[in-house]
Amino acid sequence: MPDDAWSVRGVPDPAVLRLALDGLGATPKTLPPQLFYDEEGCRLFYAITALPEYYLTRTEGALLREIAPRAADWLQPGATLVEYGASHEAKAKLLLAGRSAGRATFETYVAIDVARAALSEMGARLRQEFPQLRFIPIEADFEQPLLLPPDLPAAAKLGFFPGSTIGNLDPVGRRRFLAQARETLGHDAAFLLGADLRKPESVLIPAYDDAAGVTAAFNRNLLVRLNREANAEFDPDSFDHRAIWNAAEGRIEMHLVSRHAQTVRVGSAHVSFAAGETIHTENSYKFTPDDIAGLAADAGWRLQDSWTDAEARFGLFLLKAI
Ligand code: AVI
Repeated sequence: MPDDAWSVRGVPDPAVLRLALDGLGATPKTLPPQLFYDEEGCRLFYAITALPEYYLTRTEGALLREIAPRAADWLQPGATLVEYGASHEAKAKLLLAGRSAGRATFETYVAIDVARAALSEMGARLRQEFPQLRFIPIEADFEQPLLLPPDLPAAAKLGFFPGSTIGNLDPVGRRRFLAQARETLGHDAAFLLGADLRKPESVLIPAYDDAAGVTAAFNRNLLVRLNREANAEFDPDSFDHRAIWNAAEGRIEMHLVSRHAQTVRVGSAHVSFAAGETIHTENSYKFTPDDIAGLAADAGWRLQDSWTDAEARFGLFLLKAI
């Protein structure tokens, strides 16, 4: 690579470069988990959801299939479903299929996500499968305050945040997210939240460090992305994937561990790593049902109902606005 590699390889994405330099300049070093989800990261994440060790997606799916027919009992007919972080309609469809007294439980589906292409592909599929449904894609970061279109039907709204993505937010962030959703959805809203439950480390660690190495590839893909989008020169193979259970914080942490002392160029900066030094890339908090009830109450909701699988691995929680 010539010395003027910068100009040869093009201009970095300033937002990605900023995030990278902020995180790698901190002590301890971090990278924000939103950087996981480039095209390859999304592909690897969907591969994770099908892994035998990653019980979350299939457990939640089975629970949703069981309880979705009850959604008509929670809301008046003609309601609006509002999904946060909706990059695929697979889970929402279980709710959208519901009917009572010959009328669809949900007549409108608002999908909020940063991925424009994913939203437009969803729209095409939904038009085929639910021709009567009004689909409103909103390209936005679900953590930011949001106003819904003013012409939505007056019937109540059901917020929907599946997948335990709530566990990727820190305690302040998840309270703020739920409080904002309460503001957005209105005083007669309900909210269906998927959350991964606390369980033995012997189950949690393999879910985040699988035998086939897919989660390791997902974690290292962050460095591949920085090479491409932040003009960095990481050797991804010189970092090990590590998943640890932090019992005090109640969370799985993912790290990338430098195999040896090294200095890596990132944009026009140089970042030094000691042997064994880590980049903290993700937190995935695990909850007790009491944690969720407390979180809901702090954010303007009350816990109305909840469902878990037979092994109490995953929970769906129905909240009502207060
Ligand atoms: C998206 N989120 C709920 C996943 C999780 O389990 O925290 C992301 C993930 N990270 C590693 N594996 C899956």
